[in-house]
Amino acid sequence: MKVSNINCLLLIIILVLISASTTQASSISLIKVVPGHAETRTCFSRRSPCFLKRITCPRQCPTSHPKDPKAKACYIDCYSPICKAECRNRKPNCSGRGAACLDPRFIGGDGIVFYFHGKSNEHFALVSDHKLQINARFIGLRPFGRTRDYTWIQALGILINSHTISLEATPAAAWDKNVEHLKFTYDGDKLDIPQGNPSSWKSSNEDLKIERIESRNSEILIIKDVAEISVNVVPVTKEDDHIHNYHIPPDDCFAHLEVQFKFLELSQEVEGVLGRTYQPDFKNPAKPGVAMPIVGGEDRYRTSSLSSADCKSCLFSPVVVLQQNLSLKEDLGTVQTAGAT
Ligand SMILES: *[C@@H]1O[C@H](CO)[C@@H](O)[C@H](O)[C@H]1NC(C)=O
Ligand SMILES: *[C@@H]1O[C@H](CO)[C@@H](O)[C@H](O)[C@H]1NC(C)=O
Repeated sequence: MKVSNINCLLLIIILVLISASTTQASSISLIKVVPGHAETRTCFSRRSPCFLKRITCPRQCPTSHPKDPKAKACYIDCYSPICKAECRNRKPNCSGRGAACLDPRFIGGDGIVFYFHGKSNEHFALVSDHKLQINARFIGLRPFGRTRDYTWIQALGILINSHTISLEATPAAAWDKNVEHLKFTYDGDKLDIPQGNPSSWKSSNEDLKIERIESRNSEILIIKDVAEISVNVVPVTKEDDHIHNYHIPPDDCFAHLEVQFKFLELSQEVEGVLGRTYQPDFKNPAKPGVAMPIVGGEDRYRTSSLSSADCKSCLFSPVVVLQQNLSLKEDLGTVQTAGAT
C-alpha cells in the first residue's frame, strides 16, 4: 500500500516536471534521454493503444529532434496499434506522397503525380475536410503570348478548430539563404520563432506545434492527431528559369514553398486539389503516361481568401466552442488518470 503510494507520488512529480519543462515535451508522449542511448518514449493518452508502454527509438534514428536537418527523426504514433518507433524524414520529400513542389507538382495520396496550375494571385483549397481546411495562395506570372500563368505556392492558410494559421514565403528580389523567408501567423498575430535549431513554438493547449528543421527556411508544423506539414522556402533558380523559360524578372525571385503533407485523420469524403486523392475510391483524372499530367478543378476549389472555406466543393465547418472545451477537459483528464494509475 505504502509502496504504491510512493510510486504514485513519484509518477505525479515526474509528470509535473515534464509538463513544466518548456522544450520538446509533448502532452501525448514523454521523452527520456539517457546520454549515448536512444530516446525512450511513453504515450500518456488513455485513448492510445500504447498507453503507458515504453517505446525505444531505433538505433538508426535515436532522437526525435536530430540536429542534422537531413537525419531521420524518431517518430512514435501513439494512435497506431503497432506501438513501435519509426524513422522519418523531417524535410519535405518532393517525390513522396502528399508533396506539393515546383510549379505546383503534386503527388497524391494515391501516389499519382499531377500538376494543378490554378492562377496567380488567387487561392485554392488543397484540402477541405469536415475539421480541416488547407488553402494555398498561388503566385506567378504569364510571359507574353502564353495561354496560362506559371504558378508557385507562396502561402498556406490552415483552418483547424476555430483557429487560423498561415505560413508564407516572404517576397524577395534576390535569394539570400542567410535570411529568413518564412513567416507564420496564428489567428492573425505574427509568430516569433527564434532562428536556430532547435527552436519551436506551440499553442497554449499544445495542439499546434512548429519546429525548425534548420536554422531558417525549413520548418515542420504539427497539428496534433490531424496532420504534419513540412515546408521549405526556396526561390525559382536561374537554372529553372532557363530550362522552363519562365521569364522571371530581376526584381523578384518568386520565393515559394515546397511542402509535404502527412495526414493522420481524414474523412472518406475529403475534398480539395490534393485532398480528394486521399478518398478511398478516387479515380485520378491525371492521364497516365503523360509527361506533365494537368488536372483542373479551378472552379470547384477557388476560395475568396487564404483563410476562407467558401469554395464550391469545400466541406469544412468550423468546430463549435463546445468541442474545444471537451477536448481540453479530456486532455486534463488523461494526465490526471495517468498520474493516479
Ligand atoms: C522520397 O520519396 C521517394 C518515394 O517514396 C523515395 O523513393 C525516396 O527515397 C525518398 N527520398 C528520401 C530522401 O527519403
Ligand atoms: C467553454 O469554455 C469557456 C471558457 O472556459 C466558457 O466560457 C464557455 O461557456 C464554454 N462553452 C461551453 C459550450 O461549455
